[in-house]
Amino acid sequence: MERLLVYGSYGYTGRLIVREAVARGGSPTVAGRDDGRVTAQAREHGLESRTFSLEDDVTSLLAEFDAVLNCAGPFVETAEPLVEACLETGTDYLDITGEFRVFERIRRRDDRARDAGVTLLPGVGFDVVPTDCLAVFLAERLPSATDLALGVQGMDSRRGIPAPSGVSRGTAKTLVNQAGTTAVARKNGTLVRLPGLRRRRIDFGDGPQHAVAVPLGDVVTAAQTTGIENVAVYAAMPSWAGSAMAAIESIGWLLESRPVQKLAQQRSTP
Ligand SMILES: NC(=O)c1ccc[n+]([C@@H]2O[C@H](COP(=O)([O-])OP(=O)(O)OC[C@H]3O[C@@H](n4cnc5c(N)ncnc54)[C@H](OP(=O)(O)O)[C@@H]3O)[C@@H](O)[C@H]2O)c1
Repeated sequence: MERLLVYGSYGYTGRLIVREAVARGGSPTVAGRDDGRVTAQAREHGLESRTFSLEDDVTSLLAEFDAVLNCAGPFVETAEPLVEACLETGTDYLDITGEFRVFERIRRRDDRARDAGVTLLPGVGFDVVPTDCLAVFLAERLPSATDLALGVQGMDSRRGIPAPSGVSRGTAKTLVNQAGTTAVARKNGTLVRLPGLRRRRIDFGDGPQHAVAVPLGDVVTAAQTTGIENVAVYAAMPSWAGSAMAAIESIGWLLESRPVQKLAQQRSTP
């Protein structure tokens, strides 16, 4: 029987994943650094548990597992210890990140992963999956392409109309926290910062709209998927909104907002 460890299993997304896995007949081992929360979750679902932090000897802890699903974000702080341990132990690694830095760091381990026969598959949540499909669609239409510009537009899910803004402030704050205030693009295979706002007009179906470059994970994943090494991602936003913050708010729909709201609330508490 394959053995799966879910790390960060008692967080908001981890809990949903574990619940769904159990409902489908799976029995993952739940794990995290808070023993009380891990054991309570394990008891609730009748699962095994492991309590450890990423400063512990992760390698020996992972040796018994076939795969790890990392749900502990921000992943820029958690992915590398787990990935390194997976490469040592031959354990497959998955996570739900959308952070471009994490994708890039894992991509650089591609050769080691192949040599070790280990699958490193970050981003199995929502973030880059739809836009990666869009990248493939575009590349298949123009196989000789050397540059890829992706445009994304948020939707108001309740009204079914484009929503260039309107996400929680907490979501935007976390995005800024994780990505900085400047956009990032891939140029000739290297990630570069784009100082200032890079604007573009994109027709999403209702005529040209104002969009700006944003630091989404596709600057790494689209290159990996399509082989195109010049990639930029643009998000639709109101033309009056002249800051990176406003641009980032306009694509906040890509992210889960609940934990981010919690973070923002903590930050706004004097
Ligand atoms: N790809 C997607 O579509 C998608 C969807 C939802 C969420 N996400 C991302 O997934 C991440 C988690 O979101 P969430 O809603 O589940 O957040 P959450 O409720 O705050 O849960 C985060 C979990 O990660 C653990 N954690 C955080 N830092 C850690 C560290 N340094 N070492 C060990 N454990 C650590 C937390 O444990 P403690 O409580 O002990 O700190 C907690 O179990 C976020 O980065 C979010 O952006 C992605």
